[in-house]
Amino acid sequence: MEKGNVQRIIMDMDPGIDDALALILALKSPEVQVMGISTVAGNAPVALTSANACQVLEACNIHNIPVAKGAASPLERPLEHALSYHGPDGLGKLALPERKFPLDPEPAPELISQLASQHPHEIVLVATGPLTNIAQAFQSHPQLPKLLSRMILMGGAYHITPFGRGNKTPLAEFNIWQDPEAAFIVFTSGIDVTAIGLDVSANPEVCLSNKHLNQLETGHSPAISLAIQLTEYAIQHHGCCELHDPLTLASLLDPSLFGFMSVPVEVITTSDEERGMTRILPLGLGNRMPFIHLAIDVDEARFIQLFLSRVFGR
Ligand code: BDR
Ligand code: CA
Repeated sequence: MEKGNVQRIIMDMDPGIDDALALILALKSPEVQVMGISTVAGNAPVALTSANACQVLEACNIHNIPVAKGAASPLERPLEHALSYHGPDGLGKLALPERKFPLDPEPAPELISQLASQHPHEIVLVATGPLTNIAQAFQSHPQLPKLLSRMILMGGAYHITPFGRGNKTPLAEFNIWQDPEAAFIVFTSGIDVTAIGLDVSANPEVCLSNKHLNQLETGHSPAISLAIQLTEYAIQHHGCCELHDPLTLASLLDPSLFGFMSVPVEVITTSDEERGMTRILPLGLGNRMPFIHLAIDVDEARFIQLFLSRVFGR
């Protein structure tokens, strides 16, 4: 259920350049209201991902969204961060103002549970990092999957499109690979799952290039300035700015951007080269795992247009 036409969301994230851009997109999109942010270790250690979430809110002059720190490491293995991609602080080592924004006193699973209890069946959980916090929240609050409206996650490589190969291993995508045990718990929890995986998000047509950076540079606001710096860092270091996490949020803002199919998906938790793989099961075996809604196609131009226009707007 929605409040008016505005969809309440919780963002569970590991900022991270593209997580930060997803948060900016959410803050500037009238369709959604960010009720809370929970942070998790992933792209960077959780102290940094928490600081970075606060930093983005502060840069956008937002002071009324709680940020709760979550898991410092995956359920069963040590963290393998991605600072070499996202910069030494996880956010491109930008010269941002000193952060004053305080963290919420509650740990992430408690904040998620409290918000869901206050707004039963109304909140969509948007997860753009490893699923550790959410698995822990579901384990300590077994009613939680039913209290949330549904969840949308950035995760998985489904080997359906030419882009759907792994980015952490040849078979596995970073978020799911980081904590496949958590992903298994979430996928089998009974919550309605929509997954945006590399099959759509690694499409080079949904990356920001210098052309888009030049467009951003015509705007003037604290949020645009932050988006410019993040995009510039990614383009300088990686040739383009990947938008995995903004694309995930966009599936809530405008589902018509995507083609979806519903399939049973198994998360592989073995210790071999398949670890972290998200495997679509043949339909005959489908009763082993619940069906998820999987993005298999995206209107690249309309997505980029949505992203840029929202960053410019409000
Ligand atoms: C995902 O991994 C992280 O590095 C990004 O933030 C994104 O959530 C892409 O595989
Ligand atoms: Ca992320």
